[in-house]
Amino acid sequence: MLEISRLSKSFGGFRAVSDVSLTVEARQIAAVIGPNGAGKSTLFNLITGHLRPDSGKVMLGGRDITGAAPHRICRMGVGRSFQRTNIFAKLTVFENLQAAFIVHHRRGPNLWSRSDSLYRDETMELLRSIGLGGQEKTIAGTLSYGNQKQVELGLALASDPGVLLLDEPTAGMSSTETHETIALLERIAEERELTLLFTEHDMEVVFSIAQKIAVLHQGHIIAEGLPDTVRANDEVRRVYLGHGLTHQS
Ligand SMILES: Nc1ncnc2c1ncn2[C@@H]1O[C@H](COP(=O)(O)OP(=O)(O)O)[C@@H](O)[C@H]1O
Ligand SMILES: [Mg+2]
Repeated sequence: MLEISRLSKSFGGFRAVSDVSLTVEARQIAAVIGPNGAGKSTLFNLITGHLRPDSGKVMLGGRDITGAAPHRICRMGVGRSFQRTNIFAKLTVFENLQAAFIVHHRRGPNLWSRSDSLYRDETMELLRSIGLGGQEKTIAGTLSYGNQKQVELGLALASDPGVLLLDEPTAGMSSTETHETIALLERIAEERELTLLFTEHDMEVVFSIAQKIAVLHQGHIIAEGLPDTVRANDEVRRVYLGHGLTHQS
């Protein structure tokens, strides 16, 4: 579904992503892990077109999408969420998700004209599916942090992606929120037959849902494969020494 080959990106003289290759199969849940600054967000930005690679290739379902504009890549079926929350804090939950549908379907020049009925059914359906049923009138900025991240997930889902990239979906969450988010992600991935690629610093999260793990360290992939294989890898253990990688989950 997603085939990344020999992708590199430098900032100034600094190689943030170096010769990274990675394949994610259709409907697979895959994780990219690695310490802060390893290059995870940069890698995601290269895949989604928010950054242009210096070299290398990104293939989506057999189609070369390397260097295409973010909105084109989104239209080709790659949704994403950002490491920082990206919602409209002053709009209601309903309006946030409705806006995402409107933008995706590009409803003409009067994009922001009010029309409560536009995509109403789709919006309500999405609202329920992300676990925010009953919250449609709540101002998004007043929601708990965990619920705001759910809205953000909804924004990414409004374009009905086949591949979803999530950059640290549980960052900053309480442990309860984290567990709820994992359950939600698993359910949505299953229901929508999604291919999921996510980055995460919480090892418990990673090992509880990822079917495949790639470990980035200083821009390089140092290990890749099944969770058990990665967990047993010596270099990975060295990088993560004292970071809980030995915990069984
Ligand atoms: N736009 C940028 N300009 C310069 N350096 C950057 C930029 N984006 C990321 N970096 C650097 O690239 C490295 C990888 O960053 P990032 O991809 O955000 O890592 P991660 O998401 O794994 O924490 C870091 O050293 C970071 O400082
Ligand atoms: Mg990051």
